[in-house]
Amino acid sequence: MRLSVAIDGPAGAGKSTIAKLIAKKFDLMYINTGAMYRAVTLTALINNISSKDTEALCNLIDTMDMNFKNDRLILNGKDIEDEITHPNISKNVSEFAALPEVRQRLVKLQQDMSKQYDVIMDGRDIGTVVLKSSPFKFFLTASPSERAKRRYIELTNKGLSVEYEDILKDILKRDHLDTTRDLDPLKKAEDAIEIDTTGLNIDGVVNKISQYIKI
Ligand code: DC
Repeated sequence: MRLSVAIDGPAGAGKSTIAKLIAKKFDLMYINTGAMYRAVTLTALINNISSKDTEALCNLIDTMDMNFKNDRLILNGKDIEDEITHPNISKNVSEFAALPEVRQRLVKLQQDMSKQYDVIMDGRDIGTVVLKSSPFKFFLTASPSERAKRRYIELTNKGLSVEYEDILKDILKRDHLDTTRDLDPLKKAEDAIEIDTTGLNIDGVVNKISQYIKI
């Protein structure tokens, strides 16, 4: 049996930062499932495929070879991490991530990865759907203002010119879309451990999670 760790929570709760550190500590492959939904969104936008054209979207996904190298998403051999974190993708991704046909395909790819490697995955439906039987599930939260502040710092550090208020608005909108969609909405798995990261430093969260992972 492969080892798997599931981390869920809303945008900006610190999932990817924490998951990357836990991956190093326990020698796991880090799978950023949000990046996979972003990659579908980016590719659909580039190819002018609307979220309503599910047939074209499914055909598109079938041509996408996604894997992770050094925590970064490689699509058909190309590192697209910078493109998929652009605010324009953040604005559009929830619409594509809500489509059953898209979710079905990406969940299958993620489950296949978890059979091949020891993984830590972060997302919205990891503990409830993708890695339902994982023994190590965590649900990270933080206040919306703290999450917007973190995203603002992350994006400005990358040299992007963004407004804090726009980021906060986008986060609140995505929270609403992600938690109210019909299929696999963001929700804590019953057996997940909830950690509120507001005001906690990164090491504190990593240590807390590490205490629960027994290998
Ligand atoms: O974690 P993120 O902000 O990169 O995620 C991008 C979007 O993808 C987010 O709005 C919700 C969606 N998502 C999802 O529906 N299921 C996942 N497992 C991961 C992300």
